Parts: sequence; structure tokens; C-alpha cells
Amino acid sequence: MFDRLVGRYDLMNRLMTIGMDGAWRRATVEAIGPVRGRRALDLGCGTGDLSIELRRAGAEPVVGLDPVPTMLAFARRKAEQRGQAALAVVGDGLALPFADGAFDLVVSAFVLRNLADVSEGLREARRVLRPGGRFASLELTPNTTPIVGPIARAIAGLVVPPLGEIVTGDRDAYRYLPASVDRFPNANGLSRLLAEVGFTGVRYRRFLFGSVALHIARRPEPPPWATA
Ligand SMILES: C[S@@+](CC[C@H](N)C(=O)[O-])C[C@H]1O[C@@H](n2cnc3c(N)ncnc32)[C@H](O)[C@@H]1O
Repeated sequence: MFDRLVGRYDLMNRLMTIGMDGAWRRATVEAIGPVRGRRALDLGCGTGDLSIELRRAGAEPVVGLDPVPTMLAFARRKAEQRGQAALAVVGDGLALPFADGAFDLVVSAFVLRNLADVSEGLREARRVLRPGGRFASLELTPNTTPIVGPIARAIAGLVVPPLGEIVTGDRDAYRYLPASVDRFPNANGLSRLLAEVGFTGVRYRRFLFGSVALHIARRPEPPPWATA
């Protein structure tokens, strides 16, 4: 599905988020804490917008991973147009091709919802983080706000599929989108999953009247007596 969308994916993102996704990505990079000189993985990097923000903030290196080679090729071209060097790896978030503790930061935007097993994806993200390393997920979230929530769901169900068809020619992909949000844990539920797989310091904030959630978490460091 993502292979079919590549050429129009960014435009559709801008339209669906009324141009706000760039600000959310920058907020993600700001919220994750110190970035300069940190080794970062952009999990499910797609066309690479979050990787671009990480490199702008000084992360080094930034590795973009995605199972879809056409997405990675697009991401690489965009990075090069901005004078950035892109490291792109074809891979699956459920079986990351990296050593334990390989990264200081793991970030993902609009990806977890697409994983067949969210807990396994979070476990893998934790595994490739060094102790003390930080994780951020920016993701659509079931909107539980009274009144606003049902309106947001109705808009997503009624507007997104036809808009997707007009812009990308692919109505099914944008039917999948609201359905995948409905199946996904709400912001508290995702916080619980993060804690269950061993993250600590889990917190979140929401954007777009509660329809998008940014979660931040940390891989705990072993207690001093465990490393002495
Ligand atoms: C909605 S797009 C988000 C892309 C990008 N992160 C962004 O912010 O625009 C979801 C991305 O997740 C990728 N994806 C799907 N399944 C995945 C998996 N099992 N592991 C890693 N990435 C996956 C897709 O190929 C796609 O590029």
C-alpha cells in the first residue's frame, strides 16, 4: 500500500493535517531531549520528514528504516536536496537489523498503528536503544475527547477516503487509515503498552484536538549495583 502512495504521500499528509504535521515533527524532536551528536533511528521513516528534522537538530548519524524501498529512495532524494546525507535501511520494525543498544534515540511518526504486533515493535525499539536512550512516537490516536472525538471520527471516516482518492487515486488506502486508528490503543493504552515492555518515564501530549498523540519514554538504566 505505501509503495503505491509514495509520489503523493507528502501532499496527502499536508492536506490531512492542515499543514500541521511539520510542527508536530519538530515538537517530537524537541520533546525527546538532547539530540545533537546522538545516534538516531527513524523507525518506519517513509519519505523521511522526521529524519530531516533530526538531522537539522544535529543527530548523527540518522538511520531511516522502512520495509518499502521506494519510500526509502524518495527519502534519500529529499535528504540530498537539502544537502543531508541519508542512511537508509530496508527492514522490518518487528525484527530490527541492529545490535542491542545501537541507538541513543528511536523515533517514529505514524508507524506503530501499522505494525501487526505493536508490543513486539516497542520491544524491538527498546532493545536497540542503549540504557538511558529515549523513544518517541508521534501517532494518530483514537480521539476520546467528549463531543470533539465523535466529530473527529466522523470527519476522518467521511472526508479522508474521498480526499485520498482525489489526491492519490487510492481510496482503499485512506479507508484503511481511520479503521487502523479505531483498532489502535488510545493514548493511555499506548502508555501502558510502553510500560509493559519495559520503558520508563512515559508521558504524552496530544495535538489536533486530541487526534494525534506524542509519546516519550526512556529505556531504564540498570541500577548502579547491577553494573559494578
Ligand atoms: C504512515 S507512513 C509514515 C511515514 C513517516 N514516518 C512519516 O512520518 O511520514 C507509515 C510507514 O510505516 C512503514 N511501515 C509499515 N510497516 C512497517 C514495519 N513492519 N516496520 C517498519 N515500518 C513499517 C510504511 O512503509 C510507511 O512508510
